[in-house]
Amino acid sequence: MMISMESAVLKLPSSLRTISPKPNLTNRTLRTATFASSASASAPSPLSTDPQLGPGSLGHLTRPDFPILHQEVNGKRLVYLDNAATSQKPAAVVDALRNYYELYNSNVHRGIHYLSAKATDEYELARQKVANFINASGCREIVFTRNATEAINLVAYSWGLSNLKDGDEVILTIAEHHSAIVPWQFVAQKTGAVLKFVNLGEDEVPDVEKLREMITKRAKLVVVHHVSNVLASVLPIDQVVSWAHDVGAKVLVDACQSVPHMVVDVRSLDADFLVASSHKMCGPTGIGFLYGKSELLSSMPPFLGGGEMIADVYLDHSTYAEPPSKFEAGTPAIGEAIGLGTAIDYLSAIGMQKIHEYEVELANYLYDRLSSVPSVRVYGPKPSRSVTRAALCSFNAEDVHPTDIATFLDQQHGVAIRSGHHCAQPLHRYLGVNASARASLHFYNTKEDVDDFISSLSDTINFFASFK
Ligand code: ALA
Repeated sequence: MMISMESAVLKLPSSLRTISPKPNLTNRTLRTATFASSASASAPSPLSTDPQLGPGSLGHLTRPDFPILHQEVNGKRLVYLDNAATSQKPAAVVDALRNYYELYNSNVHRGIHYLSAKATDEYELARQKVANFINASGCREIVFTRNATEAINLVAYSWGLSNLKDGDEVILTIAEHHSAIVPWQFVAQKTGAVLKFVNLGEDEVPDVEKLREMITKRAKLVVVHHVSNVLASVLPIDQVVSWAHDVGAKVLVDACQSVPHMVVDVRSLDADFLVASSHKMCGPTGIGFLYGKSELLSSMPPFLGGGEMIADVYLDHSTYAEPPSKFEAGTPAIGEAIGLGTAIDYLSAIGMQKIHEYEVELANYLYDRLSSVPSVRVYGPKPSRSVTRAALCSFNAEDVHPTDIATFLDQQHGVAIRSGHHCAQPLHRYLGVNASARASLHFYNTKEDVDDFISSLSDTINFFASFK
């Protein structure tokens, strides 16, 4: 029998509250929160000359919160620049996970004992934190999934299989992550729906005008990234949504690279579905979420069957719970959800607008320095006052394989970057390469991290050039 949140809270003995974790209240986190609350709210424009990157920058102030960053790798100071693959976790998140397992590990929505009530309380509080963070209308619009990939598969198998038919079009860009492409290939194979991809324009950004032309009455769904994990470009989601809604199509936004770095407001974007992953936003792995408009989630059939997603089970049929439970079959990732809630507390204490402003400065600095390295080609748009790039650069250097670059940076210099196709093979093919190297930053990176990366990269390129 399902226990409601209200009854769970009422049954919770007050003594347990004294041993409950106090997310966001470690000394380290308090330092950040104090900084965030006392900082100026004025927003510098992109490419501002305001030196936000000096000592006392957001990166310098928050680095102490991330224990993992303070170590040597291969005898050198670790410089972690693989944040688009996964972010690091502040001590508050690690503490929240440990507190859950040490103090109140229990299953949720099932037990009447106080540990279960506490776990249920904290799990549902985490859902509310996610809803608030992206400004959803309520926590019923947030479904916890294993990751963003599972969230997209949920929409594909549930909404896609029951709403798409032969000849319907799904519009995507060539820059989508494999997770946003492959599930729709499955659906297309089963329904006869057609996938159509918009290419890049001259500025090496998905061609938004072409995208607009492709959203015709045949389009039933538009699947787009918010921020590209390769090009660092940002799509105008609100416009895409309005074009799609004009023809009655729905929009699914892959927000994995935007939610951790900027203010994302689902109500102002008016997106129908939006997905993100906890581990890219300073939370634990093993948990992500799907935002879906309430009426859509209510109309969709379940994705996975099992415990917790049912209302009643008979031998020949079952009835289902309301969303979000309808889509959360089985025991969920409880500690991980609570850790995600703590990550959201942490990010919110700094402020997403402040994080974004700092990262725009870092992004411009990274782009300027990297594009000045001889023989390096950086992919994606050039930043300007009207073009904002995310704080990442995918690049290639003439005559050096990106995996050699990444290996040398790691082994000789302690600099962690990614090489490969970054789960975007169609985009790499379009760019005429099999792979690229990528440095991706988060708010706890500093100008010195970029400087170390550039000097290590220059050394690496010179080393390979010496064999010519
Ligand atoms: N999709 C993640 C990346 O871009 C894993 O690296």
